[in-house]
Amino acid sequence: MPAAKKPGNAKPKKFNGEVYYPAEDVLARANLRDWEKTARRADKDFVGFWEQEATQLEWFKPWKKTLDDGKAPFYKWFVGGKLNIVHNCIERHLETPRKNKLALIWESEDGKQDRSFSFHALNREVSRMASIIHALGVKKGDRVTIYMGRIPEIIFAMLACAKIGAVHSVVFGGFSVPALRGRVQDSESKLVITCDGGYQNGKLIELKRITDEAVAQCPGVENVLVVRRTGHAVPFQPGRDHWYHEMLESPVAKDRFPTQPMDAEDPLFILYTSGSTGRPKAILHTHGGYMVGTYTTLKYVFDIKDEDRYWCAADPGWITGHSYIVYGPLLNGATSFLYEGGPTFPNPGRWWQLIERYGITILYTAPTAVRGLMRFGEDWPEQYDLSSLRLLGSVGEPINPEAWRWYYRVIGKGKTPIMDTWWQTETGMFMITPTPVVPLKPGSGTRPFFGQRAEILDETGKPVKDGDEGYLVLTRPWPSMLRTIYGDAELYKRQYWSKYPGKYMTGDSARRDEDGYYWIIGRVDDVINVSGHRLGTAEIESALITHPAVAESAAIGLPHEVKGQAVHCFVLLKPEHSASEQLAEELRQHVATVIGGIARPEEVAFVDKLPKTRSGKIMRRVLKARAQGLPEGDLSTLED
Ligand code: WT7
Repeated sequence: MPAAKKPGNAKPKKFNGEVYYPAEDVLARANLRDWEKTARRADKDFVGFWEQEATQLEWFKPWKKTLDDGKAPFYKWFVGGKLNIVHNCIERHLETPRKNKLALIWESEDGKQDRSFSFHALNREVSRMASIIHALGVKKGDRVTIYMGRIPEIIFAMLACAKIGAVHSVVFGGFSVPALRGRVQDSESKLVITCDGGYQNGKLIELKRITDEAVAQCPGVENVLVVRRTGHAVPFQPGRDHWYHEMLESPVAKDRFPTQPMDAEDPLFILYTSGSTGRPKAILHTHGGYMVGTYTTLKYVFDIKDEDRYWCAADPGWITGHSYIVYGPLLNGATSFLYEGGPTFPNPGRWWQLIERYGITILYTAPTAVRGLMRFGEDWPEQYDLSSLRLLGSVGEPINPEAWRWYYRVIGKGKTPIMDTWWQTETGMFMITPTPVVPLKPGSGTRPFFGQRAEILDETGKPVKDGDEGYLVLTRPWPSMLRTIYGDAELYKRQYWSKYPGKYMTGDSARRDEDGYYWIIGRVDDVINVSGHRLGTAEIESALITHPAVAESAAIGLPHEVKGQAVHCFVLLKPEHSASEQLAEELRQHVATVIGGIARPEEVAFVDKLPKTRSGKIMRRVLKARAQGLPEGDLSTLED
């Protein structure tokens, strides 16, 4: 008998450094075993690669042109195609045995409630929500702001918008009044969908009250739809406010509702993210390309199978949640788990308990959560049976090797590869990422996804030597790329495509090693990455300046053990005010009130002067170096 052919890559290449090669059983069960072959094929013809993926989904009308780059950087994908992403997330599965499979499992923070929905049931819930928002006057192209906690209805709301062709704009439930108001105004939303409240670490978050305050200055908002979660008393404005549970009982609610055929390039959602310039920007994604990108990446990277129970522990309010809680899993017909609470409440064993209870096979979370849980030691995870896990994921910031090893050894028991996925709100999908068959190095996202190319450039646009740090750029269009910044096409061009014409500027710095592996270093623009969330220094500074004592300020990010980076502020007071610990605390609270808890500065320091360039720009890099006792670098542009 001939010797059984080994699965996987025929001749495993030897990689340098600390390397974790995929085990035989991982290789044997992987949906896609030969990474090199697929990568070569996709690299040769990336348009063909995406085309082939797209044909696995259902289109009402086939596209005429896969990629139109005639008006770059305003790329178009699947031009002329008609589809609806929701048809592919839900209806497509109703014709298959997946109809009765669980699409969604949910558990409340207090553990007293759980709810689950088959694809059949999900179709009913989304149809009901769609019929209700349609009855509230929402039409194709209208924007709808969604401001809710982590409950199934946030997913229904997003899908209901997409089903009728409305554009959702989800605002993370941790943002405060001014942040919500700004986003509702900028998107010109007609409808806001919220909850009476939500729970966070046992505390009530008054989402409806915050919505009321925000919407009071948004004349464009005609209706507010309120999902009951907590049952506490909330003010109600007759005519404008509607209880969702009451509308469900009314004749407008329909168990079946038509899905609007959309052009591939019609907008699906906008999502605000922080950049180096002023206010958060509305990143726009479309039905066709975003669908193909999220479907394909989740399928290959998390190796989705029908028997999986997949848990992405992010919040639906961020891009991770959009792509890999809502759309990606449903497009793949996966069973996905949604948990209302956070990792350490009521105790640091809560997540491990949930993995055991629901038999989670894939866990996708952020380095900050891993580090946060690591602090509590191994006793917590050891109390639970985590043997169902077969894959782990990481996203949001570089994962430090120590956290990687802990995650791998203590949670994955040394048998679950870790998918360190580098991507952005703008990219919509994983861009630099392993798949389970790729040898891993702790802290590296390995190589670009199929069909992608990444370069590391110096200031002049020349590729740097392997091992050297430079600007990370992407050189090929991909289907789920942002199409524009909603309402500011010029800024889209300037922000992403002007530094190196024809190349997408990520805003990150990185280096590539001798094996072609990419190592992300961090943001090179004025963005602070706190627990995997982006905050602009300009946003924090403009929040501070609205406090009567502040004359001028500078915000920087400094390393933090759990959060990755934390916000540190330098404040110059107006003459009539003097520095005190009390004022510092007041300013920290002020930032949290204006933006949200995630932006609360770790520290506020009072200074008499801020380092500036001769043209008056604050040199945050100098502040950063000083605060860490590092060399201050080139000071030739410093004012004095
Ligand atoms: C920025 C994008 C995309 C999901 C969450 C954040 C950083 C993201 C990684 C990773 C190193 C990462 C980058 C990027 N980042 N994932 N695996 N390794 N850095 O989305 O808010 O748009 O932030 O997060 O700096 O530019 P986002």
